[in-house]
Amino acid sequence: MNHLIECTDVLQIAEAVFERVFRTELGQPGFAVLVMPQDLSSQELRQSMTVLKERLSELHAMKWGEALEYLSLGRFDQQNSTKLHLDGAPERSFLMLGYEPTKVRSEFQIADFSRCACDMGLSPAEFMSQHNPMFSAGAELLRNYVSNTTNWYEDCPRIVLINNSIAEPGMHGATYGVLHGALIPVPDQQASRIINSTMIAPACFVGSDPAMQVREFVSTDQISGQILG
Ligand SMILES: [Fe+2]
Repeated sequence: MNHLIECTDVLQIAEAVFERVFRTELGQPGFAVLVMPQDLSSQELRQSMTVLKERLSELHAMKWGEALEYLSLGRFDQQNSTKLHLDGAPERSFLMLGYEPTKVRSEFQIADFSRCACDMGLSPAEFMSQHNPMFSAGAELLRNYVSNTTNWYEDCPRIVLINNSIAEPGMHGATYGVLHGALIPVPDQQASRIINSTMIAPACFVGSDPAMQVREFVSTDQISGQILG
């Protein structure tokens, strides 16, 4: 399956994104990469992210009766490679990342640990506690469940959605998550690689307002620094 989706209007593809990312069956990928028009500005990219989040929230509310809220919003310049991992977040959570055009080449990695767990007769949480892929034995189990995306239009802005959930299948609102990672073969400290990073979750998991508010996230020129990955 080609995971790259050309997109000029996030509202037009929101339902397709919802089906792919907020998946309740393992035939869907659990993530989506939207390739945006090359001339989209940084602020327009972030605006598109907030528009898409609102529509995904509506779709989530229609299906499960809960809106989606931001747990965090930030902007980072980072070129660190990261092993396959889940971000530390509630058991139902979703990463939405806005990649700005860069000349730094990278490989975007996704591992379907939920499908691997199912094939082994385990829940996703059991798989992660018994076979943590940060260690080589766990990573080896996932080998046939990894998709590597190279050459992913890094001269264009891109919006990436990743299901970061590890909820028990069958529970209310449970969807199947994936692991993510990145390989940056040749970092270039003279170049920037800016990622506009948000974490989203159903409202019941969101306590206080995120440090960076939505309006500031869209309008700021500030970069926060490094991110974990
Ligand atoms: Fe991460």
